[in-house]
Amino acid sequence: MTIKAFQKYRPNLHFAPKENWLNDPNGLIYFKGEYHLFFQHNPHDTIWGPMHWGHAISKDLISWEELDIALYPDDHGTIFSGSAVVDWNNTTGFFHDEPGLVAIFTHHKDSEDGRPAKQTQSLAYSTDKGRTWFKYEGNPVLSHETKIDFRDPKVFWDSDNNKWIMSLATGHTITFYSSPNLIDWKFESEFGEDKGSHDGVWECPDLFKFKTEETEEEKWVLFVSIGDNGRSDMGSRTQYFVGSFDGSVFKEEHNDVRWLDYGKDNYAGVSFSDIPEEDGRRIYLGWMSNWRYANEVPTVGWRSQMTLPRELSLRKVRDKYIINQKPVGELNRYFERNVNIKDIAIHQGESKMYNVDEPYFELFLEIAKGDENQFGISLNHTQTNRTTIEYDSKSNTVALNRDLSGEVAFSEMFSLEQSVSIDDSATLTLQIIADASSVEIFINGGIYAMTSLVYPEKICETVTISSKKGKLSIYDGYLATPSN
Ligand code: FRU
Repeated sequence: MTIKAFQKYRPNLHFAPKENWLNDPNGLIYFKGEYHLFFQHNPHDTIWGPMHWGHAISKDLISWEELDIALYPDDHGTIFSGSAVVDWNNTTGFFHDEPGLVAIFTHHKDSEDGRPAKQTQSLAYSTDKGRTWFKYEGNPVLSHETKIDFRDPKVFWDSDNNKWIMSLATGHTITFYSSPNLIDWKFESEFGEDKGSHDGVWECPDLFKFKTEETEEEKWVLFVSIGDNGRSDMGSRTQYFVGSFDGSVFKEEHNDVRWLDYGKDNYAGVSFSDIPEEDGRRIYLGWMSNWRYANEVPTVGWRSQMTLPRELSLRKVRDKYIINQKPVGELNRYFERNVNIKDIAIHQGESKMYNVDEPYFELFLEIAKGDENQFGISLNHTQTNRTTIEYDSKSNTVALNRDLSGEVAFSEMFSLEQSVSIDDSATLTLQIIADASSVEIFINGGIYAMTSLVYPEKICETVTISSKKGKLSIYDGYLATPSN
């Protein structure tokens, strides 16, 4: 295997493992000046296999340093997804002089000798900023007699009720447990049997509180990923519920299904724990792939990467509470705006071309939405390969097409169009961030996100913006390329 092949499609702005397989982000936490990203990792192969927790740290969420594997399989099983917390008040009794980190994760045991597979929750702790981990000798701390899908604990300290709360994926529901010490867990409630989408098994929950931006109202949000399925063209994806939580029961306030992302490649994402209060952000990271084809994507020596870290907020848009996502501000340092795109009119049948021969870039456009408008943005990877983003005012949709983007044959579903119907605001903003093998689009300030993998020979030679119908008026915008 040549080094070159090993590097092909390797992202510049996104975390990817040095080698072998990655899936869900785990144990996302900020502690003593470092962001920690643990991740589902098979260190023996480029396909999913016996799970470990890989580990990387960063000071700015964008440049990551991969460290040694944090958690290895043991007698209780392999290490599935989970979370991490700082045990500030030593509720566990694991710490002496200083607070440390506790990981709460699923032990997965395959079925053997006629016994079904078993998933249980366990603990590990670290007193040296996550560099070494000790498994708790009383593991597992939570198991279930009959449930086989019993995984992905996400834990936070509920300061209103003075207890730890765990959200756990339990088949087609999320079950909430509470604990004074992370060791003894008590059942609180079960949510979701007849709510939301059940196209796939429920996985990777995350529950947190938000102040709505427009109204300052307090709401709770529950993220639930739905696992691999062929029921729609979308495969595995993440939905969310907005509602209330009283320390025991979560109640949603709506009947419609709300998707976090309208692209196919944002799954199993959760938010960082212990972001300092003075920062106050809710920062999210997802796994940038889809179980429909994750094991087949055409990279060599390594496989899979994370989305860009995103700052989440809760917006009230036309009486609907919506999760807004935008890339974290730390990303700005990696870009230099070198082309202004201001007050530009492109008439029907005409187009404008920009050169972008760079390893990654950002394109931002603020566009007047006409009554009869149809336009396209083509990321021309090479002479023959392109990814296109199209807007049509009739259906009011933004669509991404990657059927000609490069390598696509590894999955039938990969080349099917992705689209989103957007609200009827007068302007349309598009922030497009393209890296070596991904295109992430944030529409109208992040009310809609569309995350997509692509496998072109080269990320982009040129970008063309063309009007297919009506006059396209761009008020404002820029093209940004890597800063030095
Ligand atoms: C989600 C998931 C989790 C599980 C992990 C196993 O992608 O299926 O439910 O813990 O991946 O790797």
